[in-house]
Amino acid sequence: MSSRYHEVYGAWKSDPEAFWAQAAREIDWIKPPQKIFDASAGVYGRWFPDATCNTCHNALDRHADGGRGAQTALIYDSPVAGAKRAYTYAQLREETARLAAVLRKLGVAKGDRVIVYMPMIPEAVMAMLACARIGAVHSVVFGGFAAKELATRIDDAKPKLVLTASCGIEPGRIVKYKPLLDEAIRLSNEKPQGVLLLQRPQEQAGMIEGRDHDWASLMEAAKTAGDSAPCVEVAATDPLYVLYTSGTTGVPKGVVRDNGGHMVALKWTMKNLYGIEPGEAFWAASDVGWVVGHSYIVYAPLLHGATTVVYEGKPVGTPDAGAFWRMIEEHGIVALFTAPTAFRAIKKEDPDASHLARYSTKTLRTLFLAGERADPDTVAWAEKILGVPVVDHWWQTETGWCIVGDPVGLGLLPIKHGSPTVPMPGYDVQIVDEASRPVEDGKMGSIVIKLPLPPGCLPTLWGDDSRMAESYLAEFPGYYKTADAGYRDADGYLYIMGRTDDIINVAGHRLSTGGMEEVLASHPNVAECAVIGMKDQLKGEAPLGFVVLKAGVARDPAEIEKEIVALVRDKIGPVAAFKTAVVVERLPKTRSGKILRGTMKKIADHDEWSTPATIDDPAILQEIGQALAKKGV
Ligand code: COA
Ligand code: AMP
Repeated sequence: MSSRYHEVYGAWKSDPEAFWAQAAREIDWIKPPQKIFDASAGVYGRWFPDATCNTCHNALDRHADGGRGAQTALIYDSPVAGAKRAYTYAQLREETARLAAVLRKLGVAKGDRVIVYMPMIPEAVMAMLACARIGAVHSVVFGGFAAKELATRIDDAKPKLVLTASCGIEPGRIVKYKPLLDEAIRLSNEKPQGVLLLQRPQEQAGMIEGRDHDWASLMEAAKTAGDSAPCVEVAATDPLYVLYTSGTTGVPKGVVRDNGGHMVALKWTMKNLYGIEPGEAFWAASDVGWVVGHSYIVYAPLLHGATTVVYEGKPVGTPDAGAFWRMIEEHGIVALFTAPTAFRAIKKEDPDASHLARYSTKTLRTLFLAGERADPDTVAWAEKILGVPVVDHWWQTETGWCIVGDPVGLGLLPIKHGSPTVPMPGYDVQIVDEASRPVEDGKMGSIVIKLPLPPGCLPTLWGDDSRMAESYLAEFPGYYKTADAGYRDADGYLYIMGRTDDIINVAGHRLSTGGMEEVLASHPNVAECAVIGMKDQLKGEAPLGFVVLKAGVARDPAEIEKEIVALVRDKIGPVAAFKTAVVVERLPKTRSGKILRGTMKKIADHDEWSTPATIDDPAILQEIGQALAKKGV
């Protein structure tokens, strides 16, 4: 089949407003948009500025009342808890409306923020949708973050309420959430009024009188009372959620998502990009704490009337490297979306994919990869073992949906390993030099997107229009800076090669080395430090910290290194996967005092490196090499 991609992309380019007006017809509006885009509003313009709607209505009620009430909306499968459940659209709507009524009783009103700090259980999805139902703004914080990171987010979002569960379950250990949350609230300046806590059978958490409420009892009481909250009318431009993501400092960026544009864009992608029909089972093996989880575990599949899957487990070890194949067979999954690191983990454990023989994956039509660069080896391996197209696609927390991909629904374009293929309608992607001049095909440059960004992308950062403008729009006037570098080939295919800032990507998780450096620098014995991302076979990148001790510190360096590893785990969380710190005498710097992180990275990666002309003392690079060799890096 030939692809309709070029025709559809061309139609968008010739009349973007007509394109999005057409896409907007797929959504139930309370007040349909008369105006499609207002260039004078917001930081760079706003989509559907005069429309009103409710996202929860479109995700649940529309299907529950529209003939899909008895269809499965959500499947929960947890090998770590030994639990499986399914909810129809009618049931998911009922539970969500009841939870929304509980939130209202606890004082949550339209526009209030609610932090959701929960593991991968259906109640996390209900929590997000219940907020959407009453116009509250959810902010989900990933369970692998520590108390301090949670506190930073509490201070920025100023939530009225925090929704949590007693624990998460990681293979071999229970992660107690409540002590982390209590500590975060202790550390924060903005104390939430209340906490709604779901006790899981694996862990009974202590409650603080007057502040903490028991989820199950309040839900039971609401059921007895017949309480149920209706969907409220919100402006299409009202915020649906804030999702914090790593910036270049320790202060994360609160990416704002609005209601109207978000629905229009996500709904469009389900059919045209992912090739999914309503009623089919779509599985994003990610976590609701990440953007992939927001968009493709929660919102897009439900907006489309598909069946979504909440998987509380890992690709390997829960119980084995056949976990994904079991899921596909058992739930009839037609498309799987995950990060390349998950496939690297499976490949490492089961290089011949012997577990596949035990299952039938015949329902699977496509594997989608995103979150980090999909290395050609992993893509080729996945294609070979599964026998379906493996579609890499590139996006960011900021965009909320795919920038560059291969549109399965419009007809797949030929796949080139190493490239996520072509820009989606909505995105005019350009490769430029420092002076914003386009570079030739095949030449590396900064990847930028011509403004305006399409519906669904961030209109701003939470409470900080100027940080939005400064971080993304100032460097290349008229364009959004993706902070990724790459090139375009003669066929118009894009190649995304890496970040231009100090963000690293560890197992598909985005982390700031600047944030880690702040933690290292807080150790009392540390005078100076630098953190880089070194190549890692499994996780893509792994953080590596160098520290120089203060003069006169006579302690065993190995002890200090251990303390530093523990400090990052304590301050940022296990998700940082910070396992290696190296005490060195000095850090290599330029004559103007800039730390040569790039050269240190090349040394750590065993790549070819040369001594930069601007270096102050070339001998230091040898010292770094020796220190790493001693550590076995
Ligand atoms: N709550 C608490 N701790 C968590 C957590 C959570 N929700 N998620 C991860 N952690 C912990 C892990 O237990 C691990 O702790 P450890 O240092 O004690 O082993 C640490 O954080 C690092 O986690 P991770 O980087 O995920 O490594 P892992 O070894 O547990 O698993 C993979 C590696 C590849 C299997 C896993 O990262 C994975 O499945 N990734 C692909 C899917 C994905 O999540 N993509 C993200 C965006 S699409
Ligand atoms: P996040 O905001 O956590 O989704 O991380 C976004 C970053 O991950 C991007 O800016 C890229 O650096 C990287 N990334 C995501 N998907 C891809 C991909 N398909 N190919 C290359 N890099 C990717």
